[in-house]
Amino acid sequence: MSTLVVAIDGPSGSGKSSVSREVARRLGLAYLDTGAMYRAATWWCLHEGVPLDDQPAVARAVRALPLDQGVDPAAPHVRVGTTDVDEAIRETAISAAVSAVATNLDVRDELRERQRAAIAAQADASSFSAGRGIVAEGRDITTVVAPDADVRILLTASEEARLARRARDVHGSDDDDAVAATRDQVLRRDADDSTVVQFHVAADGVVTVDSSDLDFEQTVQAVLAVVARAA
Ligand code: C5P
Repeated sequence: MSTLVVAIDGPSGSGKSSVSREVARRLGLAYLDTGAMYRAATWWCLHEGVPLDDQPAVARAVRALPLDQGVDPAAPHVRVGTTDVDEAIRETAISAAVSAVATNLDVRDELRERQRAAIAAQADASSFSAGRGIVAEGRDITTVVAPDADVRILLTASEEARLARRARDVHGSDDDDAVAATRDQVLRRDADDSTVVQFHVAADGVVTVDSSDLDFEQTVQAVLAVVARAA
């Protein structure tokens, strides 16, 4: 049985998590949200009282992170130890702090190893537990974690579209106040993240899907079309 690895990167608000998860569901593939790993690592450091500016201490804590992450797109779960952190890791406090952890290069080494292992487990056609492959999404999947993926996509959207989407997600509205409240956080986080990973321009061989003028279903269809062409 052959397996398929689909790598999807993009900035915040590009819709990559919801689109990647739906693409995985429709294709019967596993789904790995690598942003959730950085968020869970941040939650763990805060929970353990590790100062985020103490880089060696953060790296040590993340190496010991007892992460249990499900890869079923119908019911993905994120647990740290026995604590279900699915909702807690989406809170504003974590979004505001996550770049400090994600720009720690030792943390990236640790989480990239775990991501490669999770992808390899699903891509191993001889394994009984493996499915038919995986959709993995984040900021550096197409370039660093899985540069040999069968399909590599950069999902982008204009700044305006990304801010409006994030405002609707977080504040339930995309009026001027909601967009303004989102602006700093989204743009600052992308700027901070960009100091260690490049996800605004497609690397060689990576197909760009621009979702600025597409709704959710159209974006899913656009990604499925790229997969169908490449696979
Ligand atoms: O995708 P999401 O917004 O949940 O990602 C949260 C954070 O995790 C990003 O802002 C970034 O700091 C980090 N991240 C990363 N590399 C990835 C995925 C996420 O640095 N592959």
